[in-house]
Amino acid sequence: MSQQQDLLRDAMRRLNLTRDAFSERLGVRRRALDTWLLPDDSGESRAMPEMVGKFVAEILQREALGAAVAGGAADDRTIGQRIAAEGKPHLLSVAQFDRGSLEDLFQVADIMQPIARRQKVTRILEGAVLGSLFFEASTRTRVSFGAAFCRLGGTVCDTTGFTFSSMAKGESIYDTSRVMSGYVDALVVRHPDQGSVAEFARATNIPVINAGDGPGEHPSQAILDLYTIQREFSRMGKLVDGTHVAIVGDLKYGRTVHSLIRLLALYRNLKFTLIAPPSLEMPAYLLELVARHGHVIEQTQSLQEGLRGADVVYATRIQKERFAGEEIEGYTPEFQVRKALVDAVCKPDTILMHPLPRDGRPGANDLSVDLNHDPRLAIFRQTDNGIPVRMALFAVLMGVEKQVARSMRDAGWRSPAHIGPDDADFDGLD
Ligand code: NCD
Repeated sequence: MSQQQDLLRDAMRRLNLTRDAFSERLGVRRRALDTWLLPDDSGESRAMPEMVGKFVAEILQREALGAAVAGGAADDRTIGQRIAAEGKPHLLSVAQFDRGSLEDLFQVADIMQPIARRQKVTRILEGAVLGSLFFEASTRTRVSFGAAFCRLGGTVCDTTGFTFSSMAKGESIYDTSRVMSGYVDALVVRHPDQGSVAEFARATNIPVINAGDGPGEHPSQAILDLYTIQREFSRMGKLVDGTHVAIVGDLKYGRTVHSLIRLLALYRNLKFTLIAPPSLEMPAYLLELVARHGHVIEQTQSLQEGLRGADVVYATRIQKERFAGEEIEGYTPEFQVRKALVDAVCKPDTILMHPLPRDGRPGANDLSVDLNHDPRLAIFRQTDNGIPVRMALFAVLMGVEKQVARSMRDAGWRSPAHIGPDDADFDGLD
């Protein structure tokens, strides 16, 4: 059944159709489509008639043929080949993606969902070892990359911080990377210097994934953010094209938003409102890049102005550790995304996101905990999506994505229907 939901979701994504438009195209009632898209464990979920499945496949086939005719020969390269960095299977920047390869990757992530939800298991990467090198603080990125590799059947060896690595003895990036390549089959690296992960990648032929290079990029985070937006929108019958995204906080040093705005720029007719104190604005090269794609960008220091009518609110932490002695001015409590403000200026279907961690210390002015029981808060759905997305990245970089579906077996243990005690509060949205 979850295959049916994946098929329908993917079809809507590819055809760029809302639920209303898709049900019309299929000639079925919107309510019927909704029941086919519900999770299996929901009492209302229904199996879609076989005929409809055939029809969806036919529409997709026709669409693909049309695209091939319009764009010349069909691209029969694998996703890994299409996103390669200088011919190698690395993920260093979101610039490696176009909309097609991104949506193909999302389809692989959909296939991974039953594994991420502990219903299925696979051993497709049995015997493979991941090297996880984190030279900066991390909880979710490090653990979710590790868990994603393990759930594909691989194992993980890791080192954290400079203190316990040979870099503390002056070893170069080149030497470290080449040495590690003899031990492991893929590397995930986080490092405080922009461009450093690309340097690791140049010293090896095994896949290297950038898990954050200083204030540079954090591509896997942006991919899981966009995947989350797509899934939330698909449930609400909205499209990414034409949407209004408000981004608030440290837009100068926040690498997650640097990657996210570049990925979103691949879509059409977006409106961005960027809300930051004067010293922490989005770098000019990114503003130019987004504007070149024809999107509207408004910059403001008023949270109230910037959030008004947004479909997505993406809040970020102030990256104090990256400040080169500068003082931030104007980062007042007015910058805190709170429930009263969200209720006043956002919509009932606005989604609230954050890459996390949110800074909960007094005066931090980060995303407020008074939104914790608000179903619009998507932060834990976002973190949960980190697993299928990172599994998909490993699968495409290591060339096993086509074998995953066949390799799945039922999980031998039972896990709770809701993994978080408050998850049931959000059921109305799923
Ligand atoms: C972010 C990071 O490290 O870039 N977190 C993450 O990976 N999810 C954001 C941050 O540190 O504020």
